[in-house]
Amino acid sequence: MVTFTPRVLSGMQPTGNLHLGNYLGAMVNWVKMQDTHETLYCVVDMHAITQPTSVWGGPTALRKSTLEVAAAYMAAGIDPKKSILFNQSRVPEHAELAWIFNCIARLGWLNRMTQFKEKAGKDRENASVGLYAYPVLMAADILIYRATQVPVGEDQKQHLELCRDIAIKFNNDFGVDFFPITEPVIMGPATRVMSLRDGTKKMSKSDPSDLSRINLTDSADDIAKKIRKAKTDADGLPSEKAGLAGRPEAENLVGIYAALADRTTEVVLTEFGGGQFSAFKNALAELAVAKISPINTKMNQLLAEVGYVEQVLTEGSTRASAIAAPIMKDVKKIVGFV
Ligand code: TYM
Repeated sequence: MVTFTPRVLSGMQPTGNLHLGNYLGAMVNWVKMQDTHETLYCVVDMHAITQPTSVWGGPTALRKSTLEVAAAYMAAGIDPKKSILFNQSRVPEHAELAWIFNCIARLGWLNRMTQFKEKAGKDRENASVGLYAYPVLMAADILIYRATQVPVGEDQKQHLELCRDIAIKFNNDFGVDFFPITEPVIMGPATRVMSLRDGTKKMSKSDPSDLSRINLTDSADDIAKKIRKAKTDADGLPSEKAGLAGRPEAENLVGIYAALADRTTEVVLTEFGGGQFSAFKNALAELAVAKISPINTKMNQLLAEVGYVEQVLTEGSTRASAIAAPIMKDVKKIVGFV
C-alpha cells in the first residue's frame, strides 16, 4: 500500500459574488488548513464556462471575477506564501487528466449527479457537455496533485464520492496504486448555509433575491439590513440544539453565528437560548459586520493593485505546474501513451 503525502486542494468558481456560504462552508477551513498542511487553492475558471455565457458574463466579466475571487481568497486569509494560489486554466494538466478520466467515469455515475440535474433544469438537452462532465474535471483538479483532502461545503459531497470512484477504477483498471482515495473535509457548524429568505433552500449566487445571501462585498449597512430582514418563526431561541429541529431558519441563523464566532451551536444556545430573536439578530448582525467588513475592505485594497493579484496567480500557477507535470507524465506512462 502506498502512503500518500497529505496534500489539500480546493477551489471556487468565478461566477458572480462570493457569499457567506462559500466563506463559512469552505474558506474558513481552507485558512485553518494552510497552517497544518501543504495547500493548493484554485479559482476554477474552466468550471465557470460550463454554464451559458449569460451566467458567467463573457470574457471581460470572467477576467474580472477571476481576479476578484483570487483577491477574496487572500482577503479571507489565504496567504500566498503558505498556500499555492492559482487559476485552473493556467495549468493545462487539469484538462489533460480530465480527458483520461472521461474515459474512466461511467455514464451511469454522471447520470446520478444531482447538481447537474439542478443546473440543467428542465432543458437538459440544451445543457453543455461540459456541464455534464463537470464532476470529472473536478476529480482531475484534485487528483492531478494526488490531493488527499478536499475542504468543501456539504453540497460537494456527491462530487467527491465520484472523485473517489474514479480513483478506484483507474487504480483497478491499470493495476496500480497511483491515485489516493481522497477524503472530503466537511467540517464546522455551517457546512450548508441556507438562504436568509427560505431556510429550506441553500444560500446561492444564483438566487434572484439579493436579500437571500450575504455577499462578501456587501456594505456593513447591507449586512445588518439582510440579517434584520432574515426570515424567522414566531418562537424564541431554544436553549438546546434539539429545540432547533423542524425550524430551518432558526437553525441556519444559529449555525451562522456559531461558525462566525468559531464556537459550537450548543455554546451559542447557552448564551442566547430563552431570548427573543430580535436581540439575537442584533448580536448576529454585529458579529457578521465585524467578520465580513474587513474582508471587503482588504479585497478592495488588493483590487486597487490588481497587478499584485495577477503576479500571485502567475507564481501560483508555476508552482502548481511543477507538481502537476510529473504526475501527468506518470499517468501517460501508466495509460500507455508513447
Ligand atoms: P462553488 O464555486 O459552487 O462553491 C465553492 C465552495 O463553497 C461551498 N458552498 C457552500 N458551503 C456552505 N453553504 C453554502 N450555501 C455553500 N455554497 C457554496 C461549496 O461547497 C464549495 O466548497 N465544484 C465546485 C468547485 C470545484 C472544486 C474543485 C472544489 C471545482 N474543482 C476541486 C473542490 C475541489 C463548486 O462549484 O463550488
